[in-house]
Amino acid sequence: MEHDDPAEALTELRERRLGALELLQAAAGSGLAAYAVWALLLQPGFRRVPLRLQVPYVGASARQVEHVLSLLRGRPGKMVDLGSGDGRIVLAAHRCGLRPAVGYELNPWLVGLARLHAWRAGCAGSVCYLREDLWKVSLRDCRNVSVFLAPSVLPLLEDKLLAELPAGARVVSGRFPLPTWQPVAVIGEGLDRVWAYDVDMDVHHARPAATSCPILPTPGPGSALAPSLPSSQAG
Ligand SMILES: C[S@@+](CC[C@H](N)C(=O)[O-])C[C@H]1O[C@@H](n2cnc3c(N)ncnc32)[C@H](O)[C@@H]1O
Repeated sequence: MEHDDPAEALTELRERRLGALELLQAAAGSGLAAYAVWALLLQPGFRRVPLRLQVPYVGASARQVEHVLSLLRGRPGKMVDLGSGDGRIVLAAHRCGLRPAVGYELNPWLVGLARLHAWRAGCAGSVCYLREDLWKVSLRDCRNVSVFLAPSVLPLLEDKLLAELPAGARVVSGRFPLPTWQPVAVIGEGLDRVWAYDVDMDVHHARPAATSCPILPTPGPGSALAPSLPSSQAG
């Protein structure tokens, strides 16, 4: 646009500059806000965890939780969720009768949120959320383990599970399968898919069961109960 009046042109130029400056400020502001969220809410607890083992929080979908429970329901013994996030899997496990149900989570904000959810559900004294590094807790007394972690850490997790879990324990892995174990059951589709693994009865040769793997149908909408496993595979 051409201006006869130099003062008008100057004003427009200033306004344009201001626009660019504002854009820059907005971008810097959003960057700072994102950094603050990361540093204050997501990063706490991870400072001492090597970068390659850091797994960000993503909550399991409702369908995923349903599938985890359908693969654990009715099993005796302690249940743990390794990296329990906001506690949804532990709370659901407790509600369907798994006792004790324990969540290990590094992020203190998420531990607090999980406890709040449990309190609101009237289960404050019954479920347990601990601020612990999942790589450091002992799994020797765990019969039922739930994980929803990044694929990059799963090879290392396999070693830990194999070294510590008692014979007859079951591991369920949400969204990503354990890389080398053979599942005894798979349920769900896409992002909601969950794999189940049983640790062999002979713990000294502890390998997850290498039996055939049925792909179980996804339960219908609203169904809390998934098809139960054949007794030979029910752990
Ligand atoms: C993908 S989220 C899954 C959350 C929850 N299990 C669910 O299914 O909704 C993974 C969680 O693991 C936690 N986490 C990652 N590394 C951990 C560690 N070393 N010890 C304990 N928790 C960890 C993260 O903070 C995050 O909440």
